[in-house]
Amino acid sequence: MSPAASLSYPRRVDLARTPTPLQYLPRASAAWGKGLRLWVKRDDLTGNLLSGNKVRKLEFILAHALETGCDTLVTCGGLQSNHCRATAFVAAQAGLKAHLVLRGERPARAEGNYFLDLLAGAEVDIHLPKRYTRELPALLEQVRADYAARGHKALVIPTGGSDGLGLWGYIAAAEELAGDLQAAGIERAHLVCASGSGGTQAGLTLGAALHHLPLTVWGVNVCDDEQYFVDKVAADVADWRQRYPSQPEAEVTARVLDGYVGSGYGQAGPEIFTLIRDLARMEGLVLDPVYTGKAFYGLLRELEQGRFADCRDIVFVHTGGIFGLLAQTDSCL
Ligand SMILES: Cc1ncc(COP(=O)(O)O)c(C=O)c1O
Repeated sequence: MSPAASLSYPRRVDLARTPTPLQYLPRASAAWGKGLRLWVKRDDLTGNLLSGNKVRKLEFILAHALETGCDTLVTCGGLQSNHCRATAFVAAQAGLKAHLVLRGERPARAEGNYFLDLLAGAEVDIHLPKRYTRELPALLEQVRADYAARGHKALVIPTGGSDGLGLWGYIAAAEELAGDLQAAGIERAHLVCASGSGGTQAGLTLGAALHHLPLTVWGVNVCDDEQYFVDKVAADVADWRQRYPSQPEAEVTARVLDGYVGSGYGQAGPEIFTLIRDLARMEGLVLDPVYTGKAFYGLLRELEQGRFADCRDIVFVHTGGIFGLLAQTDSCL
């Protein structure tokens, strides 16, 4: 489990509270583990308003923005995007402007992440899903050009901060996991995370290979399908390799647990809300209905079917998302 000798990280800004704990779930293991031990890597604890997986990526993205003289961060996502909220607070913390291009309908009331975006002072454009999907690159370019015309330099961050630059966040997290596994006495494990824009899975898969970790990394897709994420992980890794050609070689195989999207992105069925409630009461751990609830549900179903039976341990990466739950509280109790 030695770190890759010749891996050299680009500059990062210290934003995330790391290392995050690797927490054992005794009651969930007894109830659902079928003899396996369930662990959670608490990346929901990377910060308060900067909570979740996006902060790890933003450490490298913000450093790049500052290095290249940007004074504005532009990014995009759904109305309740955790990534957009984290970007809004990173910008506020660093004294930069944030401009968010959001998909959805303007809500009657600002709730959850959208409320926090406004609280942090981000400029927000909201576009109906049809237009957003059709025109996103042009919409982002327009925002960038508008800032340029006013003498500002904006960095356009892709959906979820998932590209060759953002990948560093979870390459570094994989290095952190090497220490976690050793301290917990875990010899070999399956590692499961939610996949929305693919960067967390891509970073963990690449990081596990670069750091020679005894982990099999799985993403549970919360939108699209297996093929989409196999391609997306490959594209992010290819982008990483193109940007940083002198980094060590590593073999990357994307593994996707498909079948848990339910009726669509951001739409959770009663089984997900039941699981969120059960786990909150059983372990004091809060999942969200968009990402981690579906991913943990997928983990448990696959465990039941024997998918992970070749190991003693399963590590779930809790990527955050609590503010999204606060926008969907009605179905939970
Ligand atoms: C809470 C949470 N978990 C998981 C994910 C998925 O991560 P990624 O976009 O890197 O696939 C996201 C964002 O999409 C998220 O906000």
